Amino acid sequence: MNILIIGAGGFIGSHLSECILRNHRNWKIFALDVVADKINHLLADENFDFSKVDILASMSFVEKKLAQSDVVLPLAAIANPSTYVQNPLAVFKLDFEANLAIVKLAVKHRKRIIFPSTSEVYGMCPDDEFDEEMSNCVTGPIQKQRWIYSASKQLLDRVIYAHGIRDNLSYTLFRPFNFIGPRLDDIFNASYGSSRVITQFLSNIYHKKDINLVDGGNQMRCFIDIADGIDAIERMIENRDGCAEQRIFNVGNPSNLFSIKELAHKVVDMAKAYKKLADFAARVVIHSVDSREYYGSSYQDISRRVPAIQKAQKLLGWTPKIGLEESLTKIMDFYFG
Ligand SMILES: NC(=O)c1ccc[n+]([C@@H]2O[C@H](COP(=O)([O-])OP(=O)(O)OC[C@H]3O[C@@H](n4cnc5c(N)ncnc54)[C@H](O)[C@@H]3O)[C@@H](O)[C@H]2O)c1
Repeated sequence: MNILIIGAGGFIGSHLSECILRNHRNWKIFALDVVADKINHLLADENFDFSKVDILASMSFVEKKLAQSDVVLPLAAIANPSTYVQNPLAVFKLDFEANLAIVKLAVKHRKRIIFPSTSEVYGMCPDDEFDEEMSNCVTGPIQKQRWIYSASKQLLDRVIYAHGIRDNLSYTLFRPFNFIGPRLDDIFNASYGSSRVITQFLSNIYHKKDINLVDGGNQMRCFIDIADGIDAIERMIENRDGCAEQRIFNVGNPSNLFSIKELAHKVVDMAKAYKKLADFAARVVIHSVDSREYYGSSYQDISRRVPAIQKAQKLLGWTPKIGLEESLTKIMDFYFG
């Protein structure tokens, strides 16, 4: 099988590429990205064909590679809440427009597409667990610009679904719920507010800055270890007996439900065991900051986000196994061990 991974140099792309090269020596990866620092260690592998390409500038190159592939995973996107509010049109351009072009190419060339939707599509859905087929997708008013990411992904989900019905497009949509792991973000160069939550906390401790909890950090999130997440995506690519065909799967770990405040305290406690962090971890102050001050007035938050995963368990034979502490240990060992 030839697999085109667009955004292969990112967090999910780098772990997925590693997994495929380890477990499937008869698969070949065409990898595209604008950066390669997270995949430098894979470049020498004969089954890994990397091209440094900006997909916004060269959709014809994407088409050439897609035509040579059996399946495409378009993972290039801006997936960072601070950018949703600071530069919503950049989010729309990459996450929606560029990815729509790729979806159309998959339809044109009759290729299978495995598309990263997001837990954000459920927005402020009040359900205890978000169900792929039953839960409503609830976003806020237009001036709350943070929803441009959720809305872009949701509309692409709908476009892909419609092509499935009209053109029999072969697809799988997966919805990651806060994947965490080594290589998530660049902690050492991270500027304030630019990382995802765990790496932001670690970056703060490393750079000797106090931690800010947006609106007190009462938001509840389920964190899933990247290894568990990749296990699910690998099963979708394998697609045994068509188990992932024209399906939508939540990929999250409901057992790892914590508030952001609990997470901050856990990260600080564990950081005390790492030489490079211990000194400041012992005196870091955890403040609460108003979301309008932190992200601006166009932000709006989701108070609780828990995935229903019965469908992935039943159809993919998958279940997440790794607890939060084990994941945090892996992350801290990677950056500071
Ligand atoms: N990580 C999560 O928990 C999570 C949650 C929900 C959804 N997702 C979705 O999964 C996908 C992958 O997420 P990730 O965490 O790996 O993101 P990431 O930011 O780590 O990786 C994205 C990659 O795309 C590349 N890219 C950006 N613009 C590009 C361009 N113009 N041309 C070529 N490459 C470009 C980046 O360089 C980066 O390496 C995204 O679609 C994201 O929305 C991720």
